[in-house]
Amino acid sequence: MEKLAKELCEKLKDYTAQEIIRYFIVDFDGKVGLATSLGAEDQVLTEMICKVDKLTKIFTLDTGRVFPETYDLLEKTNKHYQINIEVYFPNTGKVEEMVNKKGINLFYESIENRKECCGIRKIEPLKRALSDIDVWVTGIRKDQSVTRFFTPLVEWDEGNKVIKVNPLLKWSEKDVWAYINDNNIPYNALHDKGFPSIGCQPCTRAVKKGEDIRSGRWWWEEPEHKECGLHTKD
Ligand code: ADX
Ligand code: SF4
Repeated sequence: MEKLAKELCEKLKDYTAQEIIRYFIVDFDGKVGLATSLGAEDQVLTEMICKVDKLTKIFTLDTGRVFPETYDLLEKTNKHYQINIEVYFPNTGKVEEMVNKKGINLFYESIENRKECCGIRKIEPLKRALSDIDVWVTGIRKDQSVTRFFTPLVEWDEGNKVIKVNPLLKWSEKDVWAYINDNNIPYNALHDKGFPSIGCQPCTRAVKKGEDIRSGRWWWEEPEHKECGLHTKD
């Protein structure tokens, strides 16, 4: 599969995002899933997927700490496309153990704590979400951060045993918003309030004009640490 991922990376390198989506939905019928945080990029991909096949799996990881605006958008998106985004929750026992031992806002105390929280609230549910598919579609873009610049278009994810595809890899933030506006795609109300990148409520804040788009995520950490583990191999 690693070889196949490399071959597909080469084969699809000049395809448009919509063509890439279509290719995987057709060739990996019923085995493709989009992970959506309901962010701007994911809304673009949801629209593209719905244009091809509305029965494609689209799922979100509800950490229990996301913004009310994100839940509103989940509902709105389901209604807009007449779909049913699957919601995955963290393991109750694990969350209880962590919170009762380390506190509800443990993530501010250390990178280790933050990774533990992301591990329990996001990574474990992600593993379950990926267990019945072969292709994992994400909204990662190269210019989102230093940690994402070298991401390939298609790669083999050994940890989760899936092919990971990033159709918007080469898109700019401007491209994303042009597509959203041209297609009247619903988007998170927080984007109009200074939040370019939205994750969990306690770990995301608004940024000022001109600031890095991910600077409001885990703002107390250094840029090279700012990955929750969804998109890293260690
Ligand atoms: S994160 O790792 O820092 O949280 P980011 O918010 O940039 O990631 O989103 C990148 C991609 O990761 C999204 O396009 C989406 O595919 C996936 N993703 C992030 N958070 C979630 C979530 N809560 N549920 C499902 N997918 C998510
Ligand atoms: Fe926990 Fe923050 Fe990670 Fe959300 S982003 S899972 S609240 S550490």
